[in-house]
Formats: sequence, C-alpha cells, structure tokens
Amino acid sequence: MKISVIGAGYVGLTTAACLAQIGHDVFCAESDSDKLSKLQSGVMPLFEPHLEKVIEIARKAARLHFGSAGEAIDWGRAIFICVGTPPLANGDADLSAIEGVARAIAKRASGYRLVIEKSTVPVQTGAQLSRYLSVLSTNGLDYDVASNPEFLREGSAVEDFLHPDRIVVGVNSARAAQLLREIYEPVIAQEFTCPVHSDCPKCKDPVFLVTDTSSAELIKHASNSFLAMKISFINMVADLCEAVGADVTKVAQGMGLDPRIGPAFLNPGIGFGGFCFPKDVQAFIRIAEKSRCDFSLLREVDKINQHRVKQFVEKIQGELWVVRGKKVAIWGLAFKPNTDDVRFAPAIALAKSLLDEGASVSAYDPVAAEKAKAVLPNITYCADAYQAAQGADAILIVTEWEEFRHLDWKRLLSMVEQPLVIDGRNMFSPEEISGHGFRYISVGRAGAVPSPTAVADGKEYRSAQADKDVQESLA
Ligand code: UGA
Repeated sequence: MKISVIGAGYVGLTTAACLAQIGHDVFCAESDSDKLSKLQSGVMPLFEPHLEKVIEIARKAARLHFGSAGEAIDWGRAIFICVGTPPLANGDADLSAIEGVARAIAKRASGYRLVIEKSTVPVQTGAQLSRYLSVLSTNGLDYDVASNPEFLREGSAVEDFLHPDRIVVGVNSARAAQLLREIYEPVIAQEFTCPVHSDCPKCKDPVFLVTDTSSAELIKHASNSFLAMKISFINMVADLCEAVGADVTKVAQGMGLDPRIGPAFLNPGIGFGGFCFPKDVQAFIRIAEKSRCDFSLLREVDKINQHRVKQFVEKIQGELWVVRGKKVAIWGLAFKPNTDDVRFAPAIALAKSLLDEGASVSAYDPVAAEKAKAVLPNITYCADAYQAAQGADAILIVTEWEEFRHLDWKRLLSMVEQPLVIDGRNMFSPEEISGHGFRYISVGRAGAVPSPTAVADGKEYRSAQADKDVQESLA
C-alpha cells in the first residue's frame, strides 16, 4: 500500500522504516530542513538500534522516500501523523503541529484518505481532527480518522514495531478498520524478513484490538501513566527499604512473582525520564481535570518522580559532606540505555543541581554526549568511563549502559580521589563493587563498605559520616 508518514522523529522514522520493511511503499515527511537533507543523503539524524539498517534496506529497495508534507499528502492513501506533541507550561499537550498537518491535508488532498493519529494525543483529538477536516476541506476530500497509538520504547523501537504485544486501532468506520488490518497484516501474521534477528523466533502472536477512537486514545495515556505509577510505587518502596534495612530487589522480586503484578517496571532508581512518561502523566492529569475527574493519584506519581533527583543529591551530600569544590563523575546522560535521547533525563537535572552546589562534573555517555552538550554546556565531556572517573570524589551511575558492567575496577580504584560509587540504577550487587575496594551506595538496599583486603595502594576510605563521627568525638 502507498503510505505516508508525517514527522521523522523516533516514532515517525521507525514507523516509516518498518512499514517499508513489511512491504509497503512509504513516503516520510520532515519539516526540519537540516534533518530532511540528512535523511535524503542516508545520514541518521538520531540513534536507535537497528533503524539505520532497516532504512538502508528500504531505500535500496526504493520503498522509502523522504520529502515535504505536501508530497506526503499527495502520496499516501493512509497518512500517519507522527509529529511532536510537547508539553505546554500548564501540562497540556501542544497540538499545534497536529493542527498544522490537518490543515495541510484538508487544503491539499482530494479523493479518499485514512488519517491516522499515531502521536500521543489527548482523548477526543480524533473527533476534533475529524471536525477540522470536514470544515476546512476544499478539494472534495473523503476521509476517515483513526487512532493507532504507538507502544515503541526508545532503544527497542524497531523490535517493538515488528514484534508487538498488541496493535490498537481506534476507528469510526469498518472501512478504516479494514485498511488498518491490511496495513498491519504482515506484522499480525509475523510474515516479513526480520532485520533484527537472523533466526527470527516469530514467537509473538500480536493481538489486533479494534476500539472506538476515544478508547484507543485513552489506552495510550492510561498505559504510560500506569507504568509510570509502577515506577513511582517501587521508588517509594525503595525509600521504605532504606529506612527499615530491607532489600528492594528482593521485595520487587517477591511482588513480581504474582502474575497479577508482574516483574516489569519494578526497578527503583533515580526516576523516570524521557519524552513520554513525564509529559504523558502531566497531560493525563490535565485531561482528567478538564473532564472534572480528580486523578490526584497521578499527581502523587509525578511528585514522587520529581523528588528522585533531589533525594539522590542528598545522598551525594551525605557521603561527600561538602560538595563545593569536589569532582564528580556522571556515567550515563541518556534517560535510559540504548538511546541518545536526553529529554527530561534525570542525568541532566542531576548535573545542573551539582553544578549549582559548586561541584565540577565530568560525564561520559556512549552515545548521548552530543545531544547533552546543547542543554548542558558547562560540564566536561569525556571519551570513556575511566576518563570521567579520573580524580573523582564520587562516581555516579545514572544510566545503566551495558558497557559499565565490563569495566576494570582495579584500574578505576587507582584513578579516583575517593573510592565511592553511588548507583542510581542498582546496576551491581553491593558485594561486587565493595569487593573491588569501593564504598557502594545504591537505591533501597543496604550500603556496602569495601572489604579491607580489597583496598588497593594503601588507599583508605572514610565516609563523610565517619569524618563527622571523628569530629564529634574530638568536640
Ligand atoms: C515508553 C513506553 O514504555 C512505551 O511503551 C511508549 O510507547 C513510549 O513511552 C511512548 O509513549 O512513546 P520510553 O519512554 O522509550 O517508552 O522508555 P521506557 O523504557 O518506558 O522507560 C521510561 C523511563 O522509566 C526511563 O527513564 C527508565 O529508566 C525508567 N524506568 C523504567 C525505571 O526507572 N524503572 C523501571 O522499572 C522501568
């Protein structure tokens, strides 16, 4: 089918490339001229595992083209709207980009178009879109509007598109449902060449769920808000564990064994970030408010999350005693591993807070440094985790990149000023890092002090608390 995708962000680009991979003829539009010329010359504007390969395959097969929104509107029978819906100051989603695309479709298109909202939008946006198209169309446009929310996680977006748990379509006509079914048939049947797995297990059996438009829109916001709630819940349990000396890893394991709860999204830490959860929780609160439903539960979810970085800074203060003048290493800037996205990333808020406290910050991230530089110019960007740790009073783990699991801790011990690791993602077991001679502080688990035999080069570590104890005993 000839399909258009408008917007080449993480969602749009993944959608366009994967639709081409499953056999469609796709035209992808991007309004940022710099990004568009990159795409047209085969340069990736963002980092997303496997996406470059999928785009290359599609371009070689001439099944993926890039250009303007006007060309995209002329091209596709089905048009996926994948433009940004950033948060406004009051928490509402800014729908001006969606409105702009709707206006362009109404003014330009003639004949039939299936207009599909894939961007995350407030409930009833589909109904507004429909009204708007009807009022503004000038060329005898015949159309359906559908909602097809995306459930793509950054870092595994290609995998999520091709091997989903569910495909949700909200429609107002049988014709729209039928077209969407045709579009997704190769995914539903799992019949396509998989670019991710050489020996594709094809074990998924995706559910194709057809609903009305409003329900589909709500499914998206409710899903993200529920996952965010799970994270804030386990973060509070972690705080409780710290207070009573329990181990949150065990608590989460025990809870997750109940199939009604499940083990996913019960990893405590420095909080959720990215361009989805923080803004979607805010937007869902606003949607409820406007419908006179008091969703204060979600306000708490947001409040707990907003507090995570501050609490982490307090942990650092507790260990370093005086932060001013200290050097801290931040490992990981992206809001999660396998992406270069730093939007609403806890690492950015943490670095800013530490700079305000007078610390000097050296940071390393395998792929996100370039994007971080735009929002965080005043820190030192390092080529690897070792360079960041050189002379550091504390190593702070903020993103759980796999490569951090394979470091030479003996080498690190010889480089740091103080052997202190504060892990905001519980990447390691306390015994492991203390076994390398470091004091290890994590989230919701008992802190670990180095075993005496592991302390190298006669380096002796005293925590700020130990220093305070000495001072108090002298006074
Ligand atoms: C999220 C959803 O998972 C996708 O289903 C959805 O399609 C997407 O938003 C979207 O709306 O576009 P994403 O933002 O890429 O995907 O990232 P997640 O993997 O969901 O993680 C979000 C944040 O939660 C990260 O900062 C992560 O570190 C944090 N997190 C996740 C935790 O702190 N603990 C956990 O147990 C899981």
